[in-house]
Amino acid sequence: MQIHSSIRDLRSALRQHQRIAFVPTMGNLHAGHIALMYEARSHGATVVASIFVNRLQFGPNDDFDRYPRTFQADCDLLAAAGVDLLFAPTEAELYPEPQQYHVEPPGIQHQLDGEFRPGHFRGVATVVLKLFNIVQPQVAIFGKKDYQQLMVLRNMTRQLALPIDIVGGETIRADDGLALSSRNAYLSASERAEAPRLHRLLQRISTAVRAGERDFTRLEREATDELDRNGWKTDYVAVRRQSDLQVPLDAAEQSLVVLAASRLGTARLIDNVEIVAVKGH
Ligand code: PAJ
Repeated sequence: MQIHSSIRDLRSALRQHQRIAFVPTMGNLHAGHIALMYEARSHGATVVASIFVNRLQFGPNDDFDRYPRTFQADCDLLAAAGVDLLFAPTEAELYPEPQQYHVEPPGIQHQLDGEFRPGHFRGVATVVLKLFNIVQPQVAIFGKKDYQQLMVLRNMTRQLALPIDIVGGETIRADDGLALSSRNAYLSASERAEAPRLHRLLQRISTAVRAGERDFTRLEREATDELDRNGWKTDYVAVRRQSDLQVPLDAAEQSLVVLAASRLGTARLIDNVEIVAVKGH
């Protein structure tokens, strides 16, 4: 695996490559990230990953400074997964001057996760557009774990007519259902034992909706209450349309997703479950 930290070197190394599949990350890699590398392999002749902890997408009270950085272990995992090139720029390389031009996503950037992380999706969209311009991939892979991020980036790519196919990768979970995340490292042993409740509740909501339950507000409130009774501080539990993450207006709406974000100790965990309609409902 080639490793490049400069934009110039990466560009010249990529010149002879065709059909590039790209997986951007912030490092501290786990099996969820690695699954995206294998997914990338099935879409491209050359797989490019990036590692960059993007300050722009972190708020002043977010965990930028303590975000886990495990570069050597990450390189080993990427090489073992058959990644061809890794782009790992420094901050000075990617932001040599203050970034004054931004991608401003529409209203959705202020909802759900965006309500609790002001500026987050603007920072994500800006760095991803910049990485796209550097790598110039034909395909880019993002995890459904960050469902709202995937939607924002899909819409950005379409509206700005970027010649890139966006592919969503399934969420990889621990055996007890907890979605793998770099932020799971912040959980104590007892919090780690409690953490799978989040996914269990989302599954329970999904089952209820598939069985015909249409009082989404009640389901959301009950799940929030159960989390908060068990020591969580919940930002939201929300049943939304898959297509645009808006509140379903029509009771017959079929393609839904239930998303949640809740804090357990110092970890803020997010998860979601797509609700697949059952025939007859
Ligand atoms: P990061 O959190 O490192 O995630 C990199 C990619 O891995 C994202 O597409 C994310 O959705 C995916 N991912 C994380 N956990 C996953 C899991 N358990 N299963 C499947 N995929 C998973 O997301 C970011 O970085 C940044 O916002 C980034 C897009 C790199 C821009 O800075």
